[in-house]
Amino acid sequence: MTIRYDGRVAVITGAGNGLGRSHALLLAARGARVVVNDLGGSVAGRGGSHSAADAVVAEIRAAGGEAVANYDSVATPEGGEAIIQSACDAFGKVDILINNAGNNIQNSFRKMSIEDFKAVVDVHLMGAVYCTKAAWQGMLDQQYGRVVMTTSAAGLFGGHGLGNYAAAKIALVGLMNSLKLEGRNRNVTVNCVAPMATTRMSEEAMDDKTGPLLQPEFVSSLVGLLCAEDHTGSGDIISTGAGYYAKIGILEGAGVCLGTQAAPDPETLAGHWAEICDLSEAQPFDDAFSAVAHSMRKVLRGLKAQG
Ligand code: NAI
Repeated sequence: MTIRYDGRVAVITGAGNGLGRSHALLLAARGARVVVNDLGGSVAGRGGSHSAADAVVAEIRAAGGEAVANYDSVATPEGGEAIIQSACDAFGKVDILINNAGNNIQNSFRKMSIEDFKAVVDVHLMGAVYCTKAAWQGMLDQQYGRVVMTTSAAGLFGGHGLGNYAAAKIALVGLMNSLKLEGRNRNVTVNCVAPMATTRMSEEAMDDKTGPLLQPEFVSSLVGLLCAEDHTGSGDIISTGAGYYAKIGILEGAGVCLGTQAAPDPETLAGHWAEICDLSEAQPFDDAFSAVAHSMRKVLRGLKAQG
């Protein structure tokens, strides 16, 4: 099986550097017509220039591919609409949207200003919301769409000094989990990648041993698969870097039912804490309804057993 994107139009946000650039090169090399979006600012997301997006467009064209640049910020509704509109103007539609643009302003929560917190949420979470919202109706109408969100280990597991970034990144998982349901019957998939790659954003955190191994291309291979026509899986979170690929799950443990006659006191819960936290029989759920229904079935079984 050869995966190609001939006839497909891909929008990649933040594609002027790092991971986005690598995704854009891969998709274009395999036939996609690409919108290379990038604000061209600093790692913090400040400033702006056309040079980052222009350089990637030039690279794609030099290799025989088709691409146009877009310099709007993802962080406003108008920016999101303009990015998607530029794809429609140049190529007529959007089939693939890779929400990759990101900034980083680190500080302990104690010291972080609300302004800096919002500046990061606005790009990572709201940027993905604005771009996806602008592309969504078209994808539903054409019964085809491949949306990739870029989450992060920091969001999934936490990171000191990364409260703004982590909050935005885990929120993308919530967005994906709902949109995967809304796109399901229209062949619109939504997945998350949790990348590890040496880029200008991450290079300070990299060590000499693993840093050189973490090339963005390893992440782009996964993104390429998630954007493939034949790949219909949706709602997956995949961690990747340096040739490592692993699914990350949100699971609920088997739990314990402590009766419905009266609410247990906190001391009783303390006595059952190990069982409550036991994940050995944990399982995933397709949606909130399934998760709640599963818990309630257990409660009702307990009631029946009590007569
Ligand atoms: P990068 O800094 O090389 O690339 C991010 C790009 O996004 C930059 O070119 C920047 O100009 C652009 N950008 C920033 N704000 C923008 C805005 N408002 N509108 C449009 N473009 C904007 O960083 P990297 O590492 O390639 O990051 C790509 C994505 O991967 C980000 O979402 C990041 O949070 C995520 N990520 C990266 C990891 C890594 O190990 N490099 C780890 C986990 C997540």
